[in-house]
Amino acid sequence: MLDGGRIIGGLAILIVGVAGPLWLGAARGVKTEALPKPVAGDRCIEPREEMRKNHPALLASWRERVVRFGDRVHHQDDGRDVRISLTGTCLGCHGKAAAFCDKCHAQAAVTLSCWGCHEQQ
Ligand code: HEC
Ligand code: HEC
Ligand code: HEC
Repeated sequence: MLDGGRIIGGLAILIVGVAGPLWLGAARGVKTEALPKPVAGDRCIEPREEMRKNHPALLASWRERVVRFGDRVHHQDDGRDVRISLTGTCLGCHGKAAAFCDKCHAQAAVTLSCWGCHEQQ
């Protein structure tokens, strides 16, 4: 005798197991296969997974440091110093914002107001 309940239960676990990571990925807007590779540099400010999660907070702290404290140097965890600049530093490596930042944001339904003032290259 086949146990129908068990089979359905097993199927449900299978579906969640397979689709779960996709749903999570969609929720975080991290469908990034189509993003362009950086035009320069081999390492980001922080490791990639950190950047995915923390770049809004990092940018907010960069802005605060420049606007409130006139501090334009970021000391990276790996000991290197970089100039604090959205256009010069972030886009200096990542290229055009439309192709990198905005492309990923479109998938996550995020719209930035930054490019009215900051040059997007
Ligand atoms: C109304 C205009 C305006 C908007 C909109 C704006 N900024 Fe700025 N931002 C400035 C100005 C002015 C400075 C100070 C520039 C300086 O002193 O070099 C600054 C400085 C910064 C800095 C540090 C210096 C630099 O050149 O990067 C960062 C980082 C930054 N903003 C990020 C952002 C982000 C991210 C957004 C969007 C969420 C944003 N800003 C939106 C005007 C704006
Ligand atoms: C020295 C070059 C360099 C600088 C400067 C830089 N990045 Fe990166 N960034 C990279 C590299 C390399 C990766 C990893 C790409 C990979 O693994 O495919 C990356 C990854 C990322 C990711 C994750 C993308 C993904 O596909 O998962 C985000 C978001 C990001 N950077 C945003 C920023 C922001 C915002 C700034 C400025 C605060 C910045 N980066 C500055 C080189 C740089
Ligand atoms: C791999 C995808 C990805 C890339 C690439 C990416 N972002 Fe984001 N970004 C997100 C997601 C998802 C959010 C919204 C969730 C969050 O706040 O973490 C976000 C939020 C932000 C916010 C906060 C917006 C708000 O209204 O609060 C800023 C500012 C921002 N990103 C700037 C940038 C800049 C500048 C770049 C390019 C240098 C960039 N991002 C590249 C995925 C990405």
